[in-house]
Amino acid sequence: MVFGASGQVGGAIVRELGVWGERIAGTRYAGSDGRYLRVDITDAGSVAEAFLATRPDLVWIPAAMPNVDWCEEHPDDSWAVNVQGPRSIVEHARREDIPVIFFSTDYVFDGTHGPYVETDVVHPLQTYGKHKAEAEQYLLQYPGALVVRPAWIYSEDAMPRNFVYRVLQDFKDERPIRALADQISTPTPAGPMVKMAWQAVQDGFRGVLHLAGPERLSRFELVRRIAQLSGHDPGMVQSVGSHALSLPARRPLDGGLATLFSRYAIQERLEDLDFVKLA
Ligand SMILES: NC(=O)c1ccc[n+]([C@@H]2O[C@H](COP(=O)([O-])OP(=O)(O)OC[C@H]3O[C@@H](n4cnc5c(N)ncnc54)[C@H](OP(=O)(O)O)[C@@H]3O)[C@@H](O)[C@H]2O)c1
Repeated sequence: MVFGASGQVGGAIVRELGVWGERIAGTRYAGSDGRYLRVDITDAGSVAEAFLATRPDLVWIPAAMPNVDWCEEHPDDSWAVNVQGPRSIVEHARREDIPVIFFSTDYVFDGTHGPYVETDVVHPLQTYGKHKAEAEQYLLQYPGALVVRPAWIYSEDAMPRNFVYRVLQDFKDERPIRALADQISTPTPAGPMVKMAWQAVQDGFRGVLHLAGPERLSRFELVRRIAQLSGHDPGMVQSVGSHALSLPARRPLDGGLATLFSRYAIQERLEDLDFVKLA
């Protein structure tokens, strides 16, 4: 069962597990994909109905509100989706002893000395990170929970939620792009991340696992790399410092993730993305 199958990571889960022949039920919220049940995870009744209707034996929770600035400006709504939602899902899962895979974020760290490993102490700077850290704490009380932390996810989906797709649209429309030169992280390909999470859960791994891409880049370097790989002009990308943009939420600047569990290390880089599919 995938809560949030209509999202970027949810789509990758459905694709990857589908390849392996697993039977998958999924949910959507505002999306209109008729394959999925409409579920509001902030509504305990809606979550209960989803469990009743599908009787899952494994639960994935990519459902979230990951827009950090929106969360900063709507803290109550952020808490409802990012904390209360996963809590009510895990309560059901625990009752039925079902393993849960929850997606957290590198934003649980403050970005003073990245990359961070699983044993580093969390210290979020903004509402989104605080709420994800609170959800993690709750989930980790359940021995059946795997908490995956990715960072800066991208995918092969032609959807605006995919950062690479958004950037490609800007290039196509010849919109100048400004990208932060002082925020560094580890861009994470959604498909390989899902494969590793699936492998880990089958191995019986529970607790916190960092699943991020192998390179640490600034946003500016990342966007220039996307330009190079897709045949656009990297000169269209302008570098800015975070102080120049008055964004509502503070970002972890020297961030990114590494893992202590090298057998789950993701090897795929941006070069391995199928840019033709996204064109
Ligand atoms: N994107 C990143 O760069 C990034 C980086 C690090 C960690 N993460 C984490 O990775 C996970 C997946 O992110 P993503 O990029 O796949 O996000 P996404 O594309 O925005 O997908 C979010 C999903 O949550 C669903 N949803 C939103 N509100 C809901 C509600 N009230 N009830 C039920 N479902 C609801 C959405 O449904 P509809 O689309 O139908 O509304 C969608 O399926 C999140 O936990 C996020 O915090 C993301």
